[in-house]
Amino acid sequence: MSLIHQLNKDNIPQHVAVIMDGNGRWAKQKGQKRLYGHAMGVESVREVLKAATECGVKYLTLYAFSTENWNRPKDEVEGLMTLLVETITKEVAELDKNNVVVKTIGDIDHLPNNCGLELKKATAKTTNNTGITLILALNYSGRTELVSAFQSIAKKVKGNQLSIDEINDKLISDSLYTANIPDPELLIRTSGEFRISNFLLWQIAYSELYFTDKLWPDFKKEDFFKAIRDYQERERRFGMISEQIK
Ligand code: IPE
Ligand code: IPE
Ligand code: MG
Repeated sequence: MSLIHQLNKDNIPQHVAVIMDGNGRWAKQKGQKRLYGHAMGVESVREVLKAATECGVKYLTLYAFSTENWNRPKDEVEGLMTLLVETITKEVAELDKNNVVVKTIGDIDHLPNNCGLELKKATAKTTNNTGITLILALNYSGRTELVSAFQSIAKKVKGNQLSIDEINDKLISDSLYTANIPDPELLIRTSGEFRISNFLLWQIAYSELYFTDKLWPDFKKEDFFKAIRDYQERERRFGMISEQIK
C-alpha cells in the first residue's frame, strides 16, 4: 500500500526543495555514460512532481544545474543543456494540462542555445495556472542570489528610496529570486552526500533536512512520501522547548 495513506494531510510541507544528486554514479554503476544517468533522472522528476501534487505540496523546487556545474567536462555540460531544452519543450503542454505553474530561479539569461527562451515560454504559458508551482533552479548559486539581493538593496539606499533601518529579514527575502514563495519546510538531498552545495542558503534557515542514499534516478514516488513521513515525525521547535509547542 502506498505510504501516501499514512501521511497526515494537515501537516504537509507547503514547499519542498530537492537537491537531485547521484545521476553520474547511477550511470557508472550500470556501466553507462553519465548523460544516460541524467536522462533517466528526468523520469524521477516526473515521479516526484506527481507525488508532490498528489500529497498537496504547493511548491516544489528542484536543483537542476548549479553555477559550479559549468566546471564539468564540456560534453557533459552540453549534453545536460540539450536534455534540458528537449525536456522542457516536450513536457510543457503536459505540465500546462496538469495545471502546473513553472518558474525558474537562477541566471537563465546566460544559458546556451535557446534554453532561456524555452524556459521563458514555459513560464509564460503556465503563469495563470493554479496547481503546484514547479521551480527549476538553473544556473543557480545561493551566494550569487544573495549578492544580487544586497546590490538591489544598496542601490535603493543610495537612491534614497530606502533607509538602512528598513533593511530586515523580510526585505532580504523579498529581494531574492524566491520573493513571494514561502521558505521550504523540507529539503531533500539524494545520493548520500551531506552538503548544501550552494543551494537556497537564506531560505533553508529553518528547513528540515532529509538525506537519503538513494541515487536520484532511483528516487521515486514512494521515496518522496517516505521523506514527507519522516518530516512529519519530527518536532519543529524553532528555538522553543517541546512543552511550548504541544
Ligand atoms: C546530479 O547528479 C545532477 C546534476 C548535478 C546536474 P550528478 O551528475 O552530480 O551525479 P553524481 O553526483 O556525479 O553521481
Ligand atoms: C548539486 O549537485 C547541484 C545539483 C544537484 C544541480 P553537485 O553534484 O553538483 O554537488 P557537489 O559537487 O557534489 O557538491
Ligand atoms: Mg553530484
